[in-house]
Amino acid sequence: MQPTLDIPILDDLDAPKQVSVTHQGKRQVYLETYGCQMNVSDSEIVASVLRENGYGLTQDEHEADIVLINTCAIRENAEQKVRRRLGELRARKMKDNPDLKLGVLGCMAERLREKLLDQEKLVDLVVGPDAYRDLPNLLGAAEDTGQAAVNVQLSREETYADIAPVRYDTNGVSAFVSIMRGCDNMCSFCVVPFTRGRERSRPVASILDECKSLVDNGYKEVTVLGQNVNSYRDGQNGSTVDFAELLYRISLLSPDLRIRYSTSHPKDCSDALLHVHAERANVCNYIHLPVQHGNTDMLQRMKRTYSREQYLDLVERARKIVPGISLSTDIIAGFCDETEEEHRDTLSLMELVRYDHAYMFMYSERPDTYAARKYTDNVPEDVKKRRLQEIIELQTRVSLEGNRAEIGAEHVVLVEGPSRRSDAQLSGRTDTNKMAVFDRMDFVKGEYVRIKVTDCTSATLIAEPIGRA
Ligand code: 5AD
Ligand code: SF4
Repeated sequence: MQPTLDIPILDDLDAPKQVSVTHQGKRQVYLETYGCQMNVSDSEIVASVLRENGYGLTQDEHEADIVLINTCAIRENAEQKVRRRLGELRARKMKDNPDLKLGVLGCMAERLREKLLDQEKLVDLVVGPDAYRDLPNLLGAAEDTGQAAVNVQLSREETYADIAPVRYDTNGVSAFVSIMRGCDNMCSFCVVPFTRGRERSRPVASILDECKSLVDNGYKEVTVLGQNVNSYRDGQNGSTVDFAELLYRISLLSPDLRIRYSTSHPKDCSDALLHVHAERANVCNYIHLPVQHGNTDMLQRMKRTYSREQYLDLVERARKIVPGISLSTDIIAGFCDETEEEHRDTLSLMELVRYDHAYMFMYSERPDTYAARKYTDNVPEDVKKRRLQEIIELQTRVSLEGNRAEIGAEHVVLVEGPSRRSDAQLSGRTDTNKMAVFDRMDFVKGEYVRIKVTDCTSATLIAEPIGRA
């Protein structure tokens, strides 16, 4: 059964995002982005590279000379969605606009290049996540020669540190700042180390410069991004800056700038980092701390490098050092050989931790991964679905109970804009990353507003505004 609950699940994460900025250039590019925030952040780099080279950006795919799809490979259905989309675009190109250039960027590029170029002849351009500087050359080559152009080389150094991204989210309030790329963790289910390459950190000075310029331009919130941000390490200039130190330095830029980050690995969540959360008021009281599973044997098979007990200890430490800290997680249902008892361990861990929020997935085998090579994807589809549904139902109940316990509580929210349902209401997130909606009054986007919670759903706090904070 397809989950129908109002918490983000697969489909929400897999919905494509489009540019909200447009400008004219020598050729118009339509850029569509699938997958995680990191991909959205990459598309901001792509938009910047294209703009610097005279290309325009459009939101209307029908007026585009070039259509670029920034792809996601994390789960099979994300990949299928992109392939369907490419088929559709290809058919339109053949029928209406033979000069249209079609390009695939990002995580699907490396693995599918042969198929996309040769067997299926779907695209004119294939560009991997470390080759975006080369885009103008590749586009030029594809246009001049009519031949497909490819660069899927992964790099050990590329961090796009010097490229000022074109901000996608034009709310002018919150922005993403990429601080590291790639992942060395090799969790057995995950394709990311293969599609995005080795871990590398962006120099601290360029991160601070970018955050400073966001502050100067009136931004109030940054989310620093990477596949595993808390393994960040910049060893340049003689001294090493780790993630705790980096967050601390960003937090000093302005007391009005809130800082969040995504995503982290429990093995790298140090006490020093927890103390930065506790001591710096503008480092949000929220950590996304993916557990993936609640059973130690499964965690070992997943190559997560911690046990159930170690994870629970970490949660206890986090709550002791940072009272009231909000936690969210990622969970996979139906990984190879998962027994009913092991599945129940996931449920019991969720009951123990009581996450504020969770992203919940059904396992899908990804090529090249350790799991694909060594294990069998042997949990039947209907069992996977039922287990996922149990996980979702439990989380919805826990989220609702957590939100109900907030009724009467006060929070400071950063106004992001009108609520989705009504212009008479505003929405914004609490320090603990909960979405709240409340009457507009005379508040405007970008302001910090004190609110009192009066009601809730499992996904949203309903509140009355008290005043500016
Ligand atoms: N199948 C299902 N979910 C996966 N994730 C990563 N790889 C897979 C896979 N093969 C999930 C993990 C990760 C999140 C970004 O996606 O939970 O934390
Ligand atoms: Fe994938 Fe694990 Fe790296 Fe996350 S930490 S990107 S799940 S390999």
